Amino acid sequence: MKQGAFSLNNLINVNEQTREFHLTNGHISYIFRVMPELNQLESVYFGKAVHVQKDLHNLDEYEPGSGCQQLPKTGIASLEHRRQEYPTYGTTDFRKPAFEIKYPSGDKISAFKYLDYTIEAGAPDLGVMPHVRYAQNAQTLSIRLKDNYSKLYLTLNYTIFSDLDIIVRNAVFENQDSKTYSLLAAKSASLDLPTANYDLITLNGAWARERHVNRTPLRPGLQEIGSIRGATGHIHDPFVALAQPNTTQNLGEAIGMTLMYSGNHQESIDVNTYGVTRIMTGISDADFNWKLEAGKKFITPQAVFSYSDRGLNGLSHNYHDLIRQHIINKEWQTPQRPVLINNWEATYYDFNEEKLLTLAKNAKEIGCDLFVLDDGWFGHSRMSDTGYMGDWEVDPAKLPNGLDHLVKKIRDLDMKFGIWFEPEALSMDTKLYQDHPDWLLGNPNKHLSQGRNQYLVDFANPDAVEALYQKMVKIIDQVHPDYIKWDMNRNITEPYSNYLSADKQGEVFHRYIMGVYRLYQKLTNKYPNILFESCAGGGGRFDLAMFYYAPQAWTSDDTDAYERWQIQTGTSYVYPPAVMGAHVSIVPNHQTGRITPLKTRANIAMFGSFGYEFDLTKLSTQEKEELKQATKRFHQFHDLIFNGDFYRLEPSNPKHGAWQVSSKDKKHAVVCYFYGLSEPNHGYYHLKLTGLDPDQLYEVNDKRRLYGDELMNIGLPLTEDYHKHEDDYWSKPMMDFDSKLFEIKAI
Ligand code: GLA
Repeated sequence: MKQGAFSLNNLINVNEQTREFHLTNGHISYIFRVMPELNQLESVYFGKAVHVQKDLHNLDEYEPGSGCQQLPKTGIASLEHRRQEYPTYGTTDFRKPAFEIKYPSGDKISAFKYLDYTIEAGAPDLGVMPHVRYAQNAQTLSIRLKDNYSKLYLTLNYTIFSDLDIIVRNAVFENQDSKTYSLLAAKSASLDLPTANYDLITLNGAWARERHVNRTPLRPGLQEIGSIRGATGHIHDPFVALAQPNTTQNLGEAIGMTLMYSGNHQESIDVNTYGVTRIMTGISDADFNWKLEAGKKFITPQAVFSYSDRGLNGLSHNYHDLIRQHIINKEWQTPQRPVLINNWEATYYDFNEEKLLTLAKNAKEIGCDLFVLDDGWFGHSRMSDTGYMGDWEVDPAKLPNGLDHLVKKIRDLDMKFGIWFEPEALSMDTKLYQDHPDWLLGNPNKHLSQGRNQYLVDFANPDAVEALYQKMVKIIDQVHPDYIKWDMNRNITEPYSNYLSADKQGEVFHRYIMGVYRLYQKLTNKYPNILFESCAGGGGRFDLAMFYYAPQAWTSDDTDAYERWQIQTGTSYVYPPAVMGAHVSIVPNHQTGRITPLKTRANIAMFGSFGYEFDLTKLSTQEKEELKQATKRFHQFHDLIFNGDFYRLEPSNPKHGAWQVSSKDKKHAVVCYFYGLSEPNHGYYHLKLTGLDPDQLYEVNDKRRLYGDELMNIGLPLTEDYHKHEDDYWSKPMMDFDSKLFEIKAI
């Protein structure tokens, strides 16, 4: 630990006299300081790196505007006119605070004043709460503040990486008093930016159309996204970006903020009357009331900020590298992901051993390595989503020879085996419920809503979590799966825990998700070789935190290629292809009814953790051959797509789309061009590539030879050269949703 040194060579520079803190890695700078007299923290700057100055006073800009003053006889002590690091409630700021504490007296006024700081190597370990890890290339600054009115302490942590343009923040409240205090809000971080000249970008949607990109200019007032569903939710990803109006995918500045958390979250974007933009993220304060007891701490999840002056792609690269290097478990960072066949869309609930084995054999023929048995293997003849969730015992009617027998047969095919669980679901016709009715989430004396015909296990109750753990262990030790899909198909309604006392019901949501993390932690510690895929009706619990435990997630229940293009494009703003479960499915598509070419379905799924979920027994020989090639292609491009830099390209025709992944050494790239609806008698289409070496000669699909500068500045012509074979043009069939893959290799 280093206390109070000031060094220009460090990632964290402290000016002891002026109490200024400057975090910089040469690309980004994050600067804040302690306000003289007020002793509270003031935000100075976040953006492209600037010199480390001994003293920042020449940046002072205090106008004595109207408002209420914190201190008498000074015109500049209104917090409304100061940019703050962690804004407080109820005094002169008048904007949304980062925290709110209710004192035993009932009032909510606190005054946290700067106390001291520490600098440590690495990043904080938050225990079961997902956090950035393997951070040998990082340093963490912790600022301690103490409340004037109590023995409450607040620590604000800031982690900066030497080679990643990311700042990770969180807040820790500690009660060294003998009384209990109520935390009514405890956000992870807040950031005040000096202007409002930004576009706001968010990822929004619903079940089967998750994370579509929305971009609009900022406007005065408070806007909020979030979730009070007990899960991240399909509706709003916790990601928020502020991009300058002229920022494109490859050019211009942008600031990103997201939250490493899977429960109720809340992101606010507030433009005040002076054009200052406050962005804030953390646990939602709706229905949050945490009793901070004597001697206890409350740790908020980590907020992850990112800055790019290389457009939105640059912002995404920062998040992708962070997820791949500092969030996903080391065990799963490099190995090739298996190509899986999931029986869900092939059979739904209607299967027996023979049907499953026939599917597995067909899958083996097209190169799949992993057979995943989805919903319906347990209970008593579960033919729909009603009933029998919670006991997790194999259904003797569907699998009379037992699960072991099926698994042995699958392994005889030289395939791995994976299985589906929905550990949090509970129905009342189970032994688990009959033995422990109080483990059902909700007040039994009131009406409880169902979600997909299920209730939920009270994951705020550690005994219930332990019971689920034992149930899962029993099955796991019996069949030794290589993969587990952990699904969660409903949101929390009528929140109430029979385990918690009356005064702690405001803790249910947070305790619930911590219970989920605890079960994940126990299982992944005991079975480090099992690949977990998280799922929540598709992408309903898709966030940085889930990837800490499960290296991939089912991106969406929607497998239609056209919809997937949009979902995976939006998802890529934050998450790399490596974490996106993406499968090829049948047409007409089960979610949209759309018919898209098999080639396009496979090309799009290849930019993710690849697999299949449809009845392969219905394929023609030609289609089977096509899919065999698609599996091979996934293996061929796996390392490039999983480890490279992913770019969203901007084709000359804005109705089209294109993705590119380049290897970090710029020697190899793959591009997927997506046409959307076919256009008769269309013009010329061009696609400018990016992320290549301008002076390097490349070969495109083993034919054309072009320099990097030609590919990036002139672009790839998408229309073909029909000179002297014009008839081919007129005989070429037009096709909606066509796509093309280009491999670019340095020669
Ligand atoms: C959810 C998942 C699907 C499938 C079904 C099974 O909807 O997202 O992939 O597992 O549940 O019930």
